[in-house]
Amino acid sequence: MIKFDFSTYMPKFESLDSYKEKINKIKNILEKETSMLDWYSIDKCIDEKTLKDILLTSKRIRSNCDVFIVIGIGGSFLGAKSVIDSLSSYFSNKKPEIIFAGTFISLEYLEELWKHISDKRIAINVISKSGTTLETNIAFDYLYAKMKKKYNEKELKERIIVTTDKEVGSLRKLVKDKGYKSYIVPENIGGRYSVLTAVGLFPIAVAGYNIEELLKGAREVNKKEAFKYAIIRDILYRKNKTIESFTIYEPKLYYFTEWLKQLFAETQGKDNKGILPVSVINTRDLHSLGQFYQEGSKFIFETVIDVKGKEDSNWLSSFNNIAAVQVAKAHFKAETYSNFIKIDKLDEYHLGYLIYFFELSAAIGGYLLDINPFDQPGVSEYKKLLNQEIKKYYNKK
Ligand code: PA5
Repeated sequence: MIKFDFSTYMPKFESLDSYKEKINKIKNILEKETSMLDWYSIDKCIDEKTLKDILLTSKRIRSNCDVFIVIGIGGSFLGAKSVIDSLSSYFSNKKPEIIFAGTFISLEYLEELWKHISDKRIAINVISKSGTTLETNIAFDYLYAKMKKKYNEKELKERIIVTTDKEVGSLRKLVKDKGYKSYIVPENIGGRYSVLTAVGLFPIAVAGYNIEELLKGAREVNKKEAFKYAIIRDILYRKNKTIESFTIYEPKLYYFTEWLKQLFAETQGKDNKGILPVSVINTRDLHSLGQFYQEGSKFIFETVIDVKGKEDSNWLSSFNNIAAVQVAKAHFKAETYSNFIKIDKLDEYHLGYLIYFFELSAAIGGYLLDINPFDQPGVSEYKKLLNQEIKKYYNKK
């Protein structure tokens, strides 16, 4: 179960009725418009045939690999990483070991990674919608060269899985040339909205988690709550609350907050507008940033994701729930307001619910700001400049 509380630790707002007209317009866009909105329908994220294929292929990989390397960056890795981390034990020897690469440009990382895996049974899933992302290409080129020395062509076909655009890009060409297994990133779904497509579902299934439950949670989202949350954020923004802190008490959700930061920053931070998303892990950060939240400048509000402690477990497990409430009370007095989202359990169902809930809220929030929620011209801008410089370097060699 998920409980939303957008009022206890919030000031009294004027009636939300003034948003009625805007909300009707947004509902209309979501239901009728097609451009970049396929994530809105779970059936368009993943069809039955691909889902079955993912279940079968992930079973095969789980039985014949020690290590599964996911190569991708931004929307092509954060969703899977956030779900896998949220569900995994802190200290685990589970097989296959799931490792992410291509999220930084670090030769040291790649060299140490290869040293760690070279004598193990390896599979790679390279994920890039465009096929042109520098970090992804660097990591893939490095590991692919090593894999070609370790395995023959027949074995590579079992061990390289490519997730990319249906038609274009260098990765699709590789699939066509070599006959590697591939999944499609749906054309009308952007990176940060792609976790419930093959982009996120395949690595999550290889990690051994139940992707059907994840999709079930997403399908059961109460859309009214997503609209309400988006409106509250919009009201706060217009009252100069320009920073939203995603506040967690369970450290396993750390990468979930990283995914949230990407989702909200890329969706809404444009045209000189938007709320800056940040995150804290409490109670750790109460002993550092907590000072600022209590007594610093008044531009922060919080969205707390609180996981209910296990009832049958040690009494310590409810301490975080108690802390979350007491901290919200203290912050409220200091005009640092909090939304509360409380989930019963950290499992696939609740994560799927949260993913779709936040995707929907982010998109609605973008429309409320009158910006295009689905482009990221700022990201494309740096990519263009960086690629130009790197090309010059390759030309010189
Ligand atoms: O949300 C987005 O669109 C971006 O964060 C992309 O996912 C990221 O830049 C990686 O792009 P690609 O999948 O084309 O390699």
